[in-house]
Amino acid sequence: MDFKTAVANEILTAMRQAFSEAELPEIATVAGALEVPPDTAMGDYAFPCFKLSKALKKSPVMIADALAGAIHADFLSKAEAVKGYLNFFIDRATYAEKVLGLALNEGEAYGADNSGAGKTVVLDYSSINIAKRFHIGHLSTTMIGNSLYRLHKFFGWRAVGVNHLGDWGTQFGKMIAAYKRWGDHDTVAASGVDEMVKLYVRFNEEAKENPALNDEGRAWFKKIEDGDPEALEIFNWFKSVTLKDAERVYEMLGVTFDSYAGESFYNDKMEPVIEALREKGLLKEDAGAQIVDLTDWGMPPALILRSDGATLYMTRDLAAAKYRKDTYDFDKSLYVVAYQQDLHFRQLFKVLELMGYDWAKQCEHVAFGMVSFEGGALSTREGHVVYLDDLLHQAIDKARAIIDEKSPDLENKDEVARQVGIGAVVFFDLYNNRIKDIDFTWERALNFDGETGPYVQYTHARACSVLRKAEGVDTANPDFAALSDPFSQDVVRLIEQFPDILKSAVNRSEPSMVTRFCVDLAQAFNKFYYENKVMVDEPGTRAARLLLTRAVKQVLRQALYLIGVEAPERM
Ligand code: ARG
Repeated sequence: MDFKTAVANEILTAMRQAFSEAELPEIATVAGALEVPPDTAMGDYAFPCFKLSKALKKSPVMIADALAGAIHADFLSKAEAVKGYLNFFIDRATYAEKVLGLALNEGEAYGADNSGAGKTVVLDYSSINIAKRFHIGHLSTTMIGNSLYRLHKFFGWRAVGVNHLGDWGTQFGKMIAAYKRWGDHDTVAASGVDEMVKLYVRFNEEAKENPALNDEGRAWFKKIEDGDPEALEIFNWFKSVTLKDAERVYEMLGVTFDSYAGESFYNDKMEPVIEALREKGLLKEDAGAQIVDLTDWGMPPALILRSDGATLYMTRDLAAAKYRKDTYDFDKSLYVVAYQQDLHFRQLFKVLELMGYDWAKQCEHVAFGMVSFEGGALSTREGHVVYLDDLLHQAIDKARAIIDEKSPDLENKDEVARQVGIGAVVFFDLYNNRIKDIDFTWERALNFDGETGPYVQYTHARACSVLRKAEGVDTANPDFAALSDPFSQDVVRLIEQFPDILKSAVNRSEPSMVTRFCVDLAQAFNKFYYENKVMVDEPGTRAARLLLTRAVKQVLRQALYLIGVEAPERM
């Protein structure tokens, strides 16, 4: 039962009775106008009558009064007119019965509809750079992307996750030059990206004294471009070493991709795009370079070809966008990339639009703020780079120490520490509105009593434990009137809102709505648990409280899954 629609139906029926001569609004309009009052003492839904005033030629107060008199439905305990509002009070037992019934019946599918059926979304996320270590600057793109991927799938979309690798640029020529001079195979094989970074740093340092080195770097890059076998072999090896390092992090985070087509993948796919730009008369020469002039849209020009003919990040993104449309025929294409690249994506989408691709409007930049760590910036030069694998391992260790102290007898402590440590980092990252900058601190991420991953996981484990103790208890005849108290009702209301929250999270590409919901539900359940004993003697009450607990466990678990956080059953 959808209470909103049911209430809207009652309003329309009452309108037909009270204002038979007037032209009445659509049901969707009425449902859309329904508000959820901030305080439940004012009802579960409120219908503002102000907008109807003109059409019905009566004051809002009179309209509300007239409607209130015409409403009688079993599922409502009352409908009350207050200052132009019509406040609806849903019968609490019915409310609990319907909401919990629906949630438990639908099980893991509760909260989803199939609004994505037949539709495809391409998500560009994580998109790390080759020969660089995975640091916490790439945490948000990875986890926001992962969550949006899961959310879309939940709603029935076909989702295509793309890791648009940064695997193109002159720096790779330099890296090969450095490797040829000072590197050796075994060291790179053993220490992975760290060794590549060392070589690259040394190259740049020595190039200051000996600028001829740069020519060597350029020559190697040219060789990569020309497909020289030796150059390609080393380059591809660097790539696979980087990916192997990254793979470990992805595995810890539970993140997957359907494609690793990165910048170099588009080497042979840019020519047609450049040709199309030329044909449409969009390319202009500017000091030897080829650009698309965007002055009319208040943006600097989009750089397509450098004066030496080299392609750019933009050129590759144009080819990638076109390739994704051709290959996946997406209905939506999301780029989960830091807000610093805002201009780049505005330019990209504008150029696509100017090229006549109406699907440009299906592309969206899902921007997010910066992550700093314990108050320090993340810049390499400041020496503050925090590598993600280090951070995750530390998180696991710290979680382990807390668990040792709180639950010394827990079985599989290692596994739980992994789930809690990593969950804490991910949860923290997804807690705020994505556009906000965030400062990661251990204190706030791992606080078992705060608005954190561990707190929500702990609440979930508590629900599991209540249910374990009640195994075999008969729940066939619940007395839902036992859930009329405000604490139970708060829990029920949140469970009812879950589908709407998820829908908004998808529509706004905002996983933090789900993260916040987890905290709200966990807090409400803990209050309920504190105020109400579950295993009471009265079987109807006990059954109703157990059903509520079961629904909480299921919804919390699902919500955590959708933000990429695991839910251990015992903590
Ligand atoms: N590799 C880039 C970076 O680390 C992000 C790439 C984002 N995706 C894209 N299609 N431009 O900044």
